[in-house]
Amino acid sequence: MLHVGVIGYGYWGPNIVRNFFSAPNCALKMVADGRAERRALINKTFPSIETVADGDEIINHPQIEAVVVATPVFTHYALAKKALLAGKHVLIEKPMTSSVAEADELIELAAQKGLTLMCDHTFLYTGAVQKMKELITTGVIGTAGYFDSTRINLGLFQPDVNVLWDLAPHDLSILTYLIEDEPVSINATGISHTRNSIENIAYMTVNYQSNFIAHFNCSWTSPVKVRQTLIAGDKKMILYNDLEPSEKVRVYDTGYVHKSDEDKKQIMVDYRTGDVYIPKLSGKEALAGVAEDFVQSVLQKRKPLSNAFLGRAVVNILEASQKSIKAQGKEIKF
Ligand SMILES: NC(=O)c1ccc[n+]([C@@H]2O[C@H](COP(=O)([O-])OP(=O)(O)OC[C@H]3O[C@@H](n4cnc5c(N)ncnc54)[C@H](O)[C@@H]3O)[C@@H](O)[C@H]2O)c1
Repeated sequence: MLHVGVIGYGYWGPNIVRNFFSAPNCALKMVADGRAERRALINKTFPSIETVADGDEIINHPQIEAVVVATPVFTHYALAKKALLAGKHVLIEKPMTSSVAEADELIELAAQKGLTLMCDHTFLYTGAVQKMKELITTGVIGTAGYFDSTRINLGLFQPDVNVLWDLAPHDLSILTYLIEDEPVSINATGISHTRNSIENIAYMTVNYQSNFIAHFNCSWTSPVKVRQTLIAGDKKMILYNDLEPSEKVRVYDTGYVHKSDEDKKQIMVDYRTGDVYIPKLSGKEALAGVAEDFVQSVLQKRKPLSNAFLGRAVVNILEASQKSIKAQGKEIKF
């Protein structure tokens, strides 16, 4: 049985608490939130959980073995560092940290102390992403050629981070998990329509050494909500629409054969459009998978799926995107 404490019961914390409360081999003992009204809500919903105002009380509690950090991004590093130094296993909400340097320090500290460090990239545990991983690793789509994601809506303008830091972590975690290739560089452009120079629309391209490319369109200023990703292989193409209630993944038997390009002015391409297949997906709540993976990784001393290296890879691309945007789309090499 793993004794867990959660810091942060704001918007996302209640989902974390609900799932850790019912996770096997887990005893959720304490939740911290600085706001009295949030603590009152926990006391009403989960009377067996002890509530405290300050996250440090959880970090320093001798009976707590693992801490979940569900607070705003700029607080992740300091809380996680304190928890690791106190000998606790740590699950940090996404994005893992505000910089690669912070992520590296936490990874090193966890390794030195022999502790589990994990980042909650919830989407990896969805039935849709698990199915897409299976379609890619079993060779169904063939060799992957591109990843093209659109995540736009009339969203809440964040005061501290731009639209890529807010919306792209989900897509970047999916990309990093599905495509095992290493990115070599990125270009990003964006614009702020407010006076604080925090971009509310941004476009980012991640370039790979192989013949693969990934593109992201993120916006808080779209009249419609779109959560759509295309992943194309040379055998089949996947359309992932997260707004579909159940048929989120469609596999298109669509492709083309590049016959010859001896004469560069006349490229010969044969197109193929065939059936569309809608695979059955697991309906299990993704966050239940996150909680189980964290608890089992600690108890069995194994690496979690959404591990700290994946969390770092996401922060690495976000940090580079920031540099590229501020340099008018300049290519930033990794
Ligand atoms: N995995 C996902 O899909 C997903 C979805 C939404 C948010 N998130 C992440 O969850 C995290 C929290 O986001 P949110 O929207 O819930 O934020 P929020 O501001 O709504 O809530 C944070 C809460 O933490 C409390 N808090 C902060 N520091 C504390 C401390 N030291 N001690 C005690 N309480 C403290 C605040 O009082 C607040 O209630 C962020 O990292 C965000 O990116 C993840």
